[in-house]
Amino acid sequence: MKDNNESYCIYPGSFDPITNGHINLIERGLHIFDKIIVAVANNLMKAPMFTVEERKEMITLSFANNPLSNRIIVDSFDGLLVDYCRSKGVHVILRGLRATSDFEYEFQMTFMNRKLDRSIDTIFMMTGMQWFFVNSSVIKQAALSGACVSGLVPDIVCERLQQKIKSIKKKG
Ligand code: PNS
Repeated sequence: MKDNNESYCIYPGSFDPITNGHINLIERGLHIFDKIIVAVANNLMKAPMFTVEERKEMITLSFANNPLSNRIIVDSFDGLLVDYCRSKGVHVILRGLRATSDFEYEFQMTFMNRKLDRSIDTIFMMTGMQWFFVNSSVIKQAALSGACVSGLVPDIVCERLQQKIKSIKKKG
Protein backbone atom coordinates (compact mmCIF):
# COMPACT_ATOMS: atom_id res chain seq x y z
CA MET A 1 0.00 0.00 0.00
CA LYS A 2 1.40 3.40 -1.01
CA ASP A 3 1.85 5.98 1.75
CA ASN A 4 1.00 9.44 0.40
CA ASN A 5 3.33 11.16 2.87
CA GLU A 6 6.29 9.46 1.25
CA SER A 7 7.94 10.26 -2.08
CA TYR A 8 7.97 7.48 -4.63
CA CYS A 9 9.48 6.90 -8.01
CA ILE A 10 9.33 4.01 -10.41
CA TYR A 11 12.60 2.58 -11.69
CA PRO A 12 11.58 0.50 -14.71
CA GLY A 13 13.75 -1.79 -16.76
CA SER A 14 14.29 -5.22 -18.19
CA PHE A 15 16.73 -6.15 -15.38
CA ASP A 16 17.74 -9.23 -17.37
CA PRO A 17 19.59 -9.58 -15.02
CA ILE A 18 20.09 -6.80 -12.44
CA THR A 19 23.69 -5.51 -12.38
CA ASN A 20 25.74 -3.59 -9.82
CA GLY A 21 25.12 -0.50 -11.96
CA HIS A 22 21.37 -0.86 -11.31
CA ILE A 23 22.02 -1.43 -7.59
CA ASN A 24 24.16 1.70 -7.43
CA LEU A 25 21.43 3.75 -9.08
CA ILE A 26 18.73 2.43 -6.74
CA GLU A 27 20.88 3.19 -3.68
CA ARG A 28 21.55 6.72 -4.90
CA GLY A 29 17.91 7.17 -5.92
CA LEU A 30 16.99 6.47 -2.30
CA HIS A 31 18.87 9.64 -1.31
CA ILE A 32 16.14 11.51 -3.21
CA PHE A 33 13.04 9.34 -2.82
CA ASP A 34 11.63 7.60 0.26
CA LYS A 35 10.65 4.54 -1.74
CA ILE A 36 11.54 3.12 -5.14
CA ILE A 37 9.35 0.70 -7.03
CA VAL A 38 11.71 -1.43 -9.12
CA ALA A 39 9.45 -2.46 -11.98
CA VAL A 40 10.48 -5.36 -14.19
CA ALA A 41 9.03 -5.01 -17.67
CA ASN A 42 7.47 -7.99 -19.32
CA ASN A 43 8.76 -6.60 -22.58
CA LEU A 44 7.31 -8.32 -25.63
CA MET A 45 9.94 -6.71 -27.86
CA LYS A 46 12.78 -8.58 -26.17
CA ALA A 47 13.62 -12.26 -25.71
CA PRO A 48 14.88 -12.33 -22.14
CA MET A 49 17.25 -14.87 -20.67
CA PHE A 50 15.37 -14.93 -17.35
CA THR A 51 11.62 -15.03 -16.71
CA VAL A 52 9.98 -12.05 -15.01
CA GLU A 53 9.68 -14.08 -11.79
CA GLU A 54 13.37 -15.05 -11.92
CA ARG A 55 14.38 -11.42 -12.49
CA LYS A 56 12.19 -10.21 -9.61
CA GLU A 57 13.62 -12.85 -7.30
CA MET A 58 17.21 -11.89 -8.17
CA ILE A 59 16.44 -8.22 -7.41
CA THR A 60 14.84 -9.09 -4.06
CA LEU A 61 17.70 -11.40 -3.09
CA SER A 62 20.30 -8.81 -4.14
CA PHE A 63 18.92 -6.50 -1.45
CA ALA A 64 18.36 -9.22 1.15
CA ASN A 65 21.17 -7.99 3.45
CA ASN A 66 20.91 -4.36 2.46
CA PRO A 67 19.53 -1.97 5.11
CA LEU A 68 17.67 -0.15 2.33
CA SER A 69 15.63 -3.25 1.44
CA ASN A 70 12.51 -1.99 3.27
CA ARG A 71 12.43 1.04 0.97
CA ILE A 72 12.35 -1.00 -2.21
CA ILE A 73 9.28 -2.59 -3.74
CA VAL A 74 9.95 -5.14 -6.46
CA ASP A 75 7.15 -5.50 -8.97
CA SER A 76 6.51 -6.19 -12.65
CA PHE A 77 4.30 -4.76 -15.33
CA ASP A 78 2.90 -5.53 -18.77
CA GLY A 79 1.99 -2.96 -21.38
CA LEU A 80 2.69 0.73 -21.19
CA LEU A 81 4.88 2.14 -18.46
CA VAL A 82 2.73 5.27 -18.09
CA ASP A 83 -0.35 3.10 -17.44
CA TYR A 84 1.57 1.24 -14.78
CA CYS A 85 2.73 4.53 -13.19
CA ARG A 86 -0.86 5.79 -13.11
CA SER A 87 -2.08 2.51 -11.58
CA LYS A 88 0.43 3.04 -8.76
CA GLY A 89 -0.31 6.77 -8.38
CA VAL A 90 3.37 7.55 -9.04
CA HIS A 91 4.37 10.38 -11.37
CA VAL A 92 8.14 10.11 -11.49
CA ILE A 93 10.14 7.64 -13.55
CA LEU A 94 13.82 7.18 -12.68
CA ARG A 95 16.30 6.14 -15.38
CA GLY A 96 20.05 5.78 -15.40
CA LEU A 97 22.31 7.24 -18.06
CA ARG A 98 25.70 5.81 -18.79
CA ALA A 99 27.49 7.12 -21.83
CA THR A 100 26.06 9.46 -24.45
CA SER A 101 25.09 6.31 -26.39
CA ASP A 102 22.14 5.85 -24.00
CA PHE A 103 20.88 9.33 -24.62
CA GLU A 104 19.05 8.96 -27.93
CA TYR A 105 17.05 5.95 -26.79
CA GLU A 106 16.19 7.58 -23.46
CA PHE A 107 15.29 10.85 -25.18
CA GLN A 108 12.87 9.04 -27.50
CA MET A 109 11.29 7.02 -24.70
CA THR A 110 10.90 10.06 -22.46
CA PHE A 111 9.18 12.04 -25.18
CA MET A 112 6.87 9.17 -26.04
CA ASN A 113 5.96 8.72 -22.38
CA ARG A 114 5.39 12.44 -22.06
CA LYS A 115 3.16 12.44 -25.13
CA LEU A 116 1.17 9.58 -23.62
CA ASP A 117 0.81 11.25 -20.21
CA ARG A 118 1.97 14.77 -19.46
CA SER A 119 1.55 14.29 -15.72
CA ILE A 120 4.44 11.84 -15.63
CA ASP A 121 8.04 13.05 -15.66
CA THR A 122 11.31 11.19 -16.09
CA ILE A 123 14.41 12.08 -14.14
CA PHE A 124 17.87 10.81 -15.00
CA MET A 125 20.84 10.04 -12.84
CA MET A 126 24.28 9.34 -14.21
CA THR A 127 25.37 5.79 -13.55
CA GLY A 128 28.24 5.54 -11.07
CA MET A 129 31.62 5.90 -12.85
CA GLN A 130 32.63 2.42 -11.84
CA TRP A 131 29.66 0.95 -13.72
CA PHE A 132 29.83 2.99 -16.91
CA PHE A 133 30.59 0.00 -19.11
CA VAL A 134 28.25 -2.44 -17.42
CA ASN A 135 24.87 -3.39 -18.81
CA SER A 136 22.82 -6.56 -18.75
CA SER A 137 23.59 -7.44 -22.39
CA VAL A 138 27.35 -7.22 -21.92
CA ILE A 139 27.08 -9.30 -18.75
CA LYS A 140 25.10 -12.03 -20.52
CA GLN A 141 27.42 -12.00 -23.51
CA ALA A 142 30.50 -12.29 -21.32
CA ALA A 143 29.01 -14.97 -19.08
CA LEU A 144 27.81 -17.02 -22.06
CA SER A 145 31.36 -16.95 -23.43
CA GLY A 146 32.72 -18.23 -20.14
CA ALA A 147 33.93 -14.98 -18.55
CA CYS A 148 33.67 -14.44 -14.81
CA VAL A 149 31.33 -11.50 -14.15
CA SER A 150 31.83 -11.54 -10.39
CA GLY A 151 32.07 -8.01 -8.98
CA LEU A 152 29.93 -6.61 -11.79
CA VAL A 153 26.69 -8.20 -10.64
CA PRO A 154 25.42 -9.28 -7.20
CA ASP A 155 26.65 -12.75 -6.12
CA ILE A 156 23.19 -14.24 -6.50
CA VAL A 157 23.11 -13.10 -10.14
CA CYS A 158 26.49 -14.72 -10.74
CA GLU A 159 25.11 -18.01 -9.40
CA ARG A 160 21.84 -17.80 -11.35
CA LEU A 161 23.72 -16.92 -14.56
CA GLN A 162 25.90 -19.98 -14.23
CA GLN A 163 22.86 -22.21 -13.60
CA LYS A 164 20.99 -20.69 -16.55
CA ILE A 165 23.93 -21.04 -18.92
CA LYS A 166 24.40 -24.65 -17.86
CA SER A 167 20.76 -25.40 -18.60
CA ILE A 168 20.91 -23.57 -21.97
CA LYS A 169 24.01 -25.54 -22.99
CA LYS A 170 22.42 -28.82 -21.86
CA LYS A 171 19.39 -28.17 -24.08
CA GLY A 172 21.84 -27.56 -26.92
O1 PNS B 1 16.16 -1.87 -19.19
P1 PNS B 1 15.56 -1.41 -20.46
O2 PNS B 1 15.35 -2.59 -21.41
O3 PNS B 1 16.31 -0.29 -21.10
O4 PNS B 1 14.09 -0.85 -20.09
C1 PNS B 1 13.23 -0.35 -21.08
C2 PNS B 1 11.81 -0.18 -20.53
C3 PNS B 1 11.31 -1.49 -19.94
C4 PNS B 1 11.79 0.87 -19.46
C5 PNS B 1 10.90 0.26 -21.72
O5 PNS B 1 11.05 -0.63 -22.78
C6 PNS B 1 9.43 0.34 -21.34
O6 PNS B 1 9.02 1.25 -20.66
N1 PNS B 1 8.62 -0.63 -21.81
C7 PNS B 1 7.20 -0.69 -21.58
C8 PNS B 1 6.43 -0.21 -22.82
C9 PNS B 1 6.43 1.31 -22.88
O7 PNS B 1 5.70 1.94 -22.14
N2 PNS B 1 7.29 1.89 -23.74
C10 PNS B 1 7.52 3.31 -23.80
C11 PNS B 1 6.59 4.02 -24.74
S1 PNS B 1 6.61 3.39 -26.36
